[in-house]
Amino acid sequence: MSFPWAKEYKPSHPFMVYLDEKLPVPRLVYNSLGAGYPVPRNINYLWNFGILAIVCLTIQIVTGVVLAMHYAANEAVAFGSVESIMRDVNWGWLLRYAHANGASAFFVVIYIHIFRGFYFGSYKPPREMVWLLGVVIFLLLMATAFMGYVLPWGQMSYWGAQVITGLFSAIPLIGNALHEWLLGGFAPGNAALNRFFSLHYLLPFVIVGAVVLHIWALHIPGSSNPTGVDVKTESDTIPFFPYFIAKDGWAVGAFLFLYCGLVFFFPNALGHPDNYIPANPMSTPAHIVPEWYFWPFYAILRAFTQDFFFVPAKLMGVLAMFSAILVWFFMPWLDRSPIRSGNYRPLFRKFFWALVVDVAVLGYCGGSPAAEPYVMISQIAAMYYFLHFFVILPIVSTIEKTDPLPSSITEAVLGHGESAAPVGLPDSAPGLPA
Ligand code: HEM
Repeated sequence: MSFPWAKEYKPSHPFMVYLDEKLPVPRLVYNSLGAGYPVPRNINYLWNFGILAIVCLTIQIVTGVVLAMHYAANEAVAFGSVESIMRDVNWGWLLRYAHANGASAFFVVIYIHIFRGFYFGSYKPPREMVWLLGVVIFLLLMATAFMGYVLPWGQMSYWGAQVITGLFSAIPLIGNALHEWLLGGFAPGNAALNRFFSLHYLLPFVIVGAVVLHIWALHIPGSSNPTGVDVKTESDTIPFFPYFIAKDGWAVGAFLFLYCGLVFFFPNALGHPDNYIPANPMSTPAHIVPEWYFWPFYAILRAFTQDFFFVPAKLMGVLAMFSAILVWFFMPWLDRSPIRSGNYRPLFRKFFWALVVDVAVLGYCGGSPAAEPYVMISQIAAMYYFLHFFVILPIVSTIEKTDPLPSSITEAVLGHGESAAPVGLPDSAPGLPA
């Protein structure tokens, strides 16, 4: 957003003046990450998770590209090549643990980023395009993570691929043909492993492209904030540099501290021990589970146990599982309240926390065996999940009595009747024009 008070980039060094004329990259950086980008002064730590997602994506790409230098996508040697990375390649154990746990860290960050959006109504106009691109990114992320998990060619890799690609066979008429086409055979094998590796390498770069669009779309209206009230005056904002660069830097430090704790001290805590057994098509594990970040959706898939007239249970499960994410595309239209932030919506707030508990229950059931009481609990929780989006949200957004909003961001920060001087740039800081 170019607020009228945004600082303009004025290069002083002759080389920077030349570059600004020919290829204005420094201007782009100044206007999107620098002093030229005013940001609401009240955004809290939940607004750090977008940057953290970029950090995760970077870690995944860097470690992944180096892992690929040692990995062999062939069913005869894939498992052994991963073992060799762990034992023979210098620092290979670190690369692999950093990548595997990096995926988990990425999903923790993304789930917080998404639920921040749910709570603060970040999907509402004028940011609906930011949200829609976010949902596309999430779908790409899930596909990438699924295909990555197949690559070590352990028991869970193999049987996970078997179950998930098998879902497509539930589609009437074309299902079986589609299933075979996806795998390049009747069961996961060399063809499937090769194409999954190829796509697992490609998709992160597609995600990078989608993230560029996501941030571009965000920079048109600018960031929202915990009050949901629009920026009105200069005193409602502070420049991104140095204030939010410093705050994001702190968050990145805290994140890396926790992430390194996971990688160095609990590297296998989130993985499944069966994936240290080489893939064996002749031995089905007693309990096939995907990685933890898929559990809520896996629980929805398994909640359908009975055919409904001529519609098979499996087909309903597949449709419900995909709908559980696709419904997010409609958030800007399902929630019609003009008030964005959950801080001023007492009824919405209760249902928001009920949804958080519901998703946690679904996650717990998805990671548990497909037996009672988990199946029944999944059925109730899955029903509530869809009730939340299709019934509760539209009704609450039309009937609820909201709390009074502050008249401005400045008032929310400093209290009623106070006024604030615009926060400009500090007198001196590295990189600032003298
Ligand atoms: C690779 C994944 C992603 C990256 C790197 C990313 C990056 C970012 C960044 C840097 C911001 C600005 C800082 C912030 O508000 O936290 C942002 C904002 C936002 N993101 Fe994402 N994002 C990702 C995925 C998603 C997903 C999956 C969704 C939703 C389904 C989403 C929805 C949003 C929304 C609505 C905003 C604007 C928030 C506001 O200003 O209130 N993002 N994202």
